[in-house]
Amino acid sequence: MKGAQFLLGFAFLALASVLAYASDPSPLQDICVATDDLKNGVFVNGKFCKDPKKAKAKDFFYKGLNKPGNTANPVGSNVTTVNVEQIPGLNTLGISAVRIDYAPYGQNPPHIHPRATEILTVLEGTLYVGFVTSNQLNNTLIAKVLKKGDVFVFPVGLIHFQFNIGKNKCSRHCCSKQPEPWCDYHSKLGLRSQTTHQS
Ligand SMILES: *[C@@H]1O[C@H](CO)[C@@H](O)[C@H](O)[C@H]1NC(C)=O
Ligand SMILES: *[C@@H]1O[C@H](CO)[C@@H](O)[C@H](O)[C@H]1NC(C)=O
Repeated sequence: MKGAQFLLGFAFLALASVLAYASDPSPLQDICVATDDLKNGVFVNGKFCKDPKKAKAKDFFYKGLNKPGNTANPVGSNVTTVNVEQIPGLNTLGISAVRIDYAPYGQNPPHIHPRATEILTVLEGTLYVGFVTSNQLNNTLIAKVLKKGDVFVFPVGLIHFQFNIGKNKCSRHCCSKQPEPWCDYHSKLGLRSQTTHQS
C-alpha cells in the first residue's frame, strides 16, 4: 500500500516536472512589461470578443480587393490590408491578407514580420522578390524573378522585399495602363490579429 502511494506520488511529480518544461506560446507583441497596477494596465494584443451566438456572415466578410491601390507615392507601391480592422472575425485567428499594387519600378522596401510567414502570388507583371537569411546561414540573399501565376514564400522573421522590374514589352504595355495591371495578391499566414501591424 505504502509502495503504491509512493509510486502514485512519484508519477504525479514526474508529470508535474514535464508540465514545468512546457513553454509559453510565442508572444503576440514585441514587449509586455508586467504591472500590478490594474488601473494603468493595457490589454495584451487583439480585441475583445463579441458573444459568439451573435456572429453574422458579415463579421467574416470583406468586399473590394479587386480595386487597385493608388501607387502615386515615393515607393511606388500600395498595400491594401485585410486584417482584423476590416474583418472582425479574423480576431485571434493568426491570419490576414493584403493586396499590393506596384507602379513600374515601384517597390515594397525591405522589411520584416517578426511573427508572420508570408506567401505571395503574382497576378500580373514581373516582380523581383527575395529574402535574406540570418547570421547562421551567412546572411545569404535568396531571390527570384516571378511572373504571373508564380508563388513565393518569405519565412517568418527574415528581411524581405519586392521590386517591380517590369522591363519586357508586355510589362511596359501594362505600365501604360497602370496601376491596374500591376497588382499582385499577397496573403500572410501566421500574422496575428494585431491592430497596429502594417505590412
Ligand atoms: C493607397 O491607395 C488608397 C486607395 O486609392 C489611397 O486611399 C491611399 O492613400 C494609398 N496609400 C498610399 C500610401 O499611397
Ligand atoms: C558561412 O561562411 C563560413 C566562412 O566562410 C563557412 O565556413 C560556412 O560554411 C558558411 N556557411 C554556410 C551555411 O554557407
